Amino acid sequence: MKKVITYGTYDLLHYGHIRLLERAKELGDYLIVGVTADAFDRARGKINVKQTLMERIEAVKALGIADEIIVEEYEGQKIDDIQRFGVDIFTVGSDWVGKFDYLKEYCQVVYLDRTEGVSSTELRAKNSLTRLGFIGNAPFRDKIINECRFVNGVEVVPPSDLPIEDLMEKVDAVFILSHPSEHYQHVKYALEHGKHVMVESPVAIGAQQAQELFQLANEKGLVLMESIKTAYALAYSRLLLLVKGGRIGNVVSVDVTCTSLREQTEPVARPWSSLCAWGPTALLPIFQILGTDYKEKHIVQRRSETDASFDLFTKIDFRYDKAVAALKVGKGVKSEGELIVSGTKGYIYVPAPWWKTDYFEIRYENAEENRRFFYQLDGEGIRYELVAFVKNIETRKIMHYLSEEVSIAIAGIMEDGQGDAVQLI
Ligand code: CTP
Repeated sequence: MKKVITYGTYDLLHYGHIRLLERAKELGDYLIVGVTADAFDRARGKINVKQTLMERIEAVKALGIADEIIVEEYEGQKIDDIQRFGVDIFTVGSDWVGKFDYLKEYCQVVYLDRTEGVSSTELRAKNSLTRLGFIGNAPFRDKIINECRFVNGVEVVPPSDLPIEDLMEKVDAVFILSHPSEHYQHVKYALEHGKHVMVESPVAIGAQQAQELFQLANEKGLVLMESIKTAYALAYSRLLLLVKGGRIGNVVSVDVTCTSLREQTEPVARPWSSLCAWGPTALLPIFQILGTDYKEKHIVQRRSETDASFDLFTKIDFRYDKAVAALKVGKGVKSEGELIVSGTKGYIYVPAPWWKTDYFEIRYENAEENRRFFYQLDGEGIRYELVAFVKNIETRKIMHYLSEEVSIAIAGIMEDGQGDAVQLI
């Protein structure tokens, strides 16, 4: 019996896939189809797959062409599979010509002509196209625009000097990158005009304002998301799951630092101070691990000598029922940007710069039990948050990388950081 094997994602199954599978089957007597797992697709840069692994498997199965379906989970698996199943022929479409010649050592390799004029990428883009405009010109705007190239279904409306009223006519969604003091007004304006919103953190300055904006978005059936790229990074979300799963016991302390020196490109008139620039990112692990129901907090700031409204450095201490947290943020002050989550069994250590997390360690008293975790992070996480935004717009099912509750609590701290209770040094 001649065994044939082929692999693919098979997202939004189309005519090109079917033709390929039919011809693959004709090459032998028994066809094995490898469907790629989400994590593997993501690792090789396919971040936009619309259907889940189960849906894709079901679709291939329903064709009745495959004799056996397997899941492709890791790099190098093809060699393993070929040997394990005693495969005679490996086949894929001609878009891969040459790429799998290394398998010739193990079996025959056949490239079949790819069907012209159809691909999952095109179908994904056609099904939905979100025209995305930008409000505000924070220095990292170009980085975000560049990352949009990796996300299917987003068409960037290039930034111009158009008044905001005219921009509203050209877009379905906006990415707000104005100064935090303008966020409330910009988010509200966009929502009132029926546009989905991604806003650079914080959503607003003040919990009440943030709450009002989320309520408005919910009433209008629009997506309102806060952009903190760390929240969408795979390593960071896996870290949270490990903590919630009890791997370090009960959490007793979260210590987090984020700092940077001031950039040349910064708008001189309205610079982002330590709390504006870094507060939301630093608050993220605190609120996501310990919750927002802290009992007490204490804020200490060092303000600029030339501009008393500009905080160069902020330290906040939180006391919870059975835990504490401390954050240090600096803009124009530099420190080690690490994250440490201490528990009753062990601790998690994320080296600087922790907010671009692709690596972390769980450390125990007995060092032999230590574990290291690495997850690829592309585009600093920006492309993942764009994918989440587009997915939420399409499905209106909000995936909560960052809950409203956390966003509202962050907005609250931003206001407190400007209040009278702040102790100055
Ligand atoms: N294929 C084909 N003709 C097409 C599209 C895909 O023969 N028009 C083949 C591919 O060469 C591959 C298999 O179908 O052997 C599965 O491809 P997959 O990557 O899942 O499909 P694409 O449509 O190419 O997906 P994407 O656009 O995401 O790359």
